[in-house]
Amino acid sequence: MTETVEASIYDYPQYYELLFGSDVAAENRFLKKCFQKHACCEVRRIFEPACGTGRLLVKLGRAGFDVAGNDLNAKAVEYCNRRLKRAGLPESVVVGDMADFQVDGGFDAAFNTINSFRHLATERQAVGHLRSIAGGLTAGGLYVLGIHLEPTDGQPIQEESWSSRRGNLVVNSYMWSKGIDRATRLEHLGMNIDVYTPARHLRIVDHMEYRTYRWSQFQSLLKKVPELEIAETYDFSYRIQCPIQITSRAEDVVFVLRRK
Ligand SMILES: C[S@@+](CC[C@H](N)C(=O)[O-])C[C@H]1O[C@@H](n2cnc3c(N)ncnc32)[C@H](O)[C@@H]1O
Repeated sequence: MTETVEASIYDYPQYYELLFGSDVAAENRFLKKCFQKHACCEVRRIFEPACGTGRLLVKLGRAGFDVAGNDLNAKAVEYCNRRLKRAGLPESVVVGDMADFQVDGGFDAAFNTINSFRHLATERQAVGHLRSIAGGLTAGGLYVLGIHLEPTDGQPIQEESWSSRRGNLVVNSYMWSKGIDRATRLEHLGMNIDVYTPARHLRIVDHMEYRTYRWSQFQSLLKKVPELEIAETYDFSYRIQCPIQITSRAEDVVFVLRRK
C-alpha cells in the first residue's frame, strides 16, 4: 500500500541526500578549480547560502576549507551540522534566510548551485541576496552561482527525473513544470518522490516555485549590485577548460561572479 504525504523534500534530508548526494565529485572539483583560476585571493573560507544537507559543503570542509552556510530549513541545518560534527568540523551552519544575511569575519568564496537561488521569489529578495554576498566577500573573492536561465529560443527543459539506491532503500523522483506565471515570473513545479523499502512505499508530493530568469533579466539584476562582476560563465557539465558564451538557447549556466 502507498502512503502519500504532501510535504517538501527538504523536510526529508536523508532522502534528499540519497537522491542528489551521490554525484558531488564533479561539482566540488569544478569549484576548487574555479577558486584557483578566477579568485584574486587565496580561498580558505567558504560560505554556502541555502546549503541544505551539506551535500557539497561537508566534503569541502573535509578537504581543509573553513566552511559555513545557512538554510531556511531547520531539519536540513540540523542534518548538515551533524555531518560536520561527525567529520570533526565545527557545526558552522545556521538557520537563516539567504535574502538577507551577514557572516562574521566574511568569506573568500561562496557558491550556490542547482537553482537554489531561484527559490528567491522576488527581485527585492534576489538583490538582497547578491548584496549580502557582496557584503561578505573579500575583494577578489568569488561567488559561483548555477541556475537555469529561461531560453528565448528553442524549447526549455520541462521535466527531470532522478533515481538512487542504498541497499534496500530506493528513492525515485520526477519533477515537471506546471507552467510560468508571467506576471510574477514564478515557474510552478510539481515533484513526486517515491521512497521504497521492503516494508513500505512512501510518496512525497511536493510543489515549489522558482523565479525565472531570461539572460537579459539576469543582466539587469546584476546591474543593481555593481560590486559583483562576471569573471566567467560555464555550464552544468562543470568543465573548467570549457567556458561558454551565453546564447538565446542557453539554459544551465554557472556564473562565476567576482567581488570588485
Ligand atoms: C535544491 S536545495 C540545494 C541544497 C544544497 N545547496 C545542495 O546543493 O544540495 C535548495 C535549498 O534551498 C533552501 N532555501 C530555499 N529558500 C531559502 C532561503 N530564502 N534562504 C535559505 N535557504 C533557502 C531550501 O531549504 C533547500 O535546502
